[in-house]
Amino acid sequence: MEIFSDWMGPGGAGEMLSRYGHFLSGITWIGLLYYFNFVQVPAFAEMEAGARSEALRKVTFRALWWFRMGALLTFLTGVLILGFQRNLGENFSDYFATQVGTSIAWGALLATTMFLNVWLVIWPNQKIVIGSAESAAGGGAEDPRAAASAKKAGRASRANTMMSIPMLWFMGFTSHFSYRFADPESGTLWAAWILFLAILAFIELSALGMLGGYDSPQAKLFWDKHKNTIVAGFATWAVLHFVGYEAIIGT
Ligand code: HEM
Repeated sequence: MEIFSDWMGPGGAGEMLSRYGHFLSGITWIGLLYYFNFVQVPAFAEMEAGARSEALRKVTFRALWWFRMGALLTFLTGVLILGFQRNLGENFSDYFATQVGTSIAWGALLATTMFLNVWLVIWPNQKIVIGSAESAAGGGAEDPRAAASAKKAGRASRANTMMSIPMLWFMGFTSHFSYRFADPESGTLWAAWILFLAILAFIELSALGMLGGYDSPQAKLFWDKHKNTIVAGFATWAVLHFVGYEAIIGT
């Protein structure tokens, strides 16, 4: 049987099963991310405090378990794919200097930033918010850090929503379209990477409140309304594709 024939080689069963696990965990993670941003946040804003507290403790708490485990498994299976392809080993520098490798490097860096946001920003801050709701529901005091924590988690969650739009493009673009572009010279590659890293740094620093605080005009513009976040996500995709690939890397 073909599935048992070649486990370790590039394009073999190990890589295929890792891809399968990658899709399953990826949809679990990003599906819940979209639920939080497009459904839960607007719904919570309309709910009474008591109902919101109960939903936070019973629904959000469970959703966050699947969310962070989905993120972990997506990251691990993504790294496994690169490992099976030998692109983390013997082919590392050859692969990542190509138009194909650049595409997955951009997708994976966006997704790894998102993964770190889940584990280092969203989850620690949500624990404070949920802990505060638990305490209040049991007749105790609310945690005074809860409001600030909700904002920190919310901003990182919005940034992840924005980054997911170009991220998913580069995940699929890698094997299915990027080969149509030229294999870049090192100067061209540098220019494309400067563009990419400047955009990534701007998004992340803004979401962490490190560009003039959480309530600076640009932070409010990008992160307060989920519709603006979606538009900004497609604008980011357009700049990375049309400037990064079409104009800088070229055909
Ligand atoms: C967390 C860090 C991530 C890493 C390191 C990573 C890594 C990878 C790698 C190496 C590939 C194979 C590219 C190729 O050679 O075709 C891939 C493909 C893909 N990834 Fe990710 N990924 C990550 C996150 C995500 C997320 C969050 C999603 C969202 C659902 C996702 C969805 C996909 C899809 C749809 C493909 C296309 C596979 C194909 O065309 O066969 N990835 N990823």
